[in-house]
Amino acid sequence: MFSTTTKLDETCHAQPRPTVLLTCADNIMPLSWHTPISKEPFRYAICVRDENYSHELLLKHREFALNFLDHSFVQAHQITGAIHGRGVNKFKESGLSEKKGANATLIEEAYMIYECCVIDVLNYGDHDVFIADVNLIHNKQNKDVSPTLFMGRGAYETISKNPTQIKR
Ligand SMILES: Cc1cc2nc3c(=O)[nH]c(=O)nc-3n(C[C@H](O)[C@H](O)[C@H](O)COP(=O)(O)O)c2cc1C
Repeated sequence: MFSTTTKLDETCHAQPRPTVLLTCADNIMPLSWHTPISKEPFRYAICVRDENYSHELLLKHREFALNFLDHSFVQAHQITGAIHGRGVNKFKESGLSEKKGANATLIEEAYMIYECCVIDVLNYGDHDVFIADVNLIHNKQNKDVSPTLFMGRGAYETISKNPTQIKR
């Protein structure tokens, strides 16, 4: 039996979402509402609420990075998502290491990083959608990563090490 609602917050909300740490200027914020929107050229969309300091930084600098970190860094996601960054050094708060990329600040501990440039900003509700070109992909080629998935309401998960491989 379904219980039916129009409100996302009234559901169990357990949609595992690959979660990244967005770096813009020298700030960090965790972000789970993001998706690729084009393969060639490689383009990406990220959804950011305007109450977040990162929103202001994205509009100002228009360059950012999406840092994918292993599940073992789950505390850093929780710490950087619990505070707003104006006047706070979230690298210091989280213990993560800052690294200069081509155009954005990167997180050294990430296993993969997209360096992006904003090309459009859309609004269809309470988040703004930043459309971006992914200009560079930095990849440590580490096959043994456990991606960080956010389940909502402070809960995190990762994937099993036994993927179901369908023959093609
Ligand atoms: C795992 C996780 C995922 C989040 N995903 C988003 C998101 O997709 N969009 C958003 O606007 N806020 C999201 N947030 C909330 C922001 O990360 C949070 O408000 C943060 O403190 C903003 O930092 P800032 O003000 O320094 O930019 C998320 C928080 C967590 C913990």
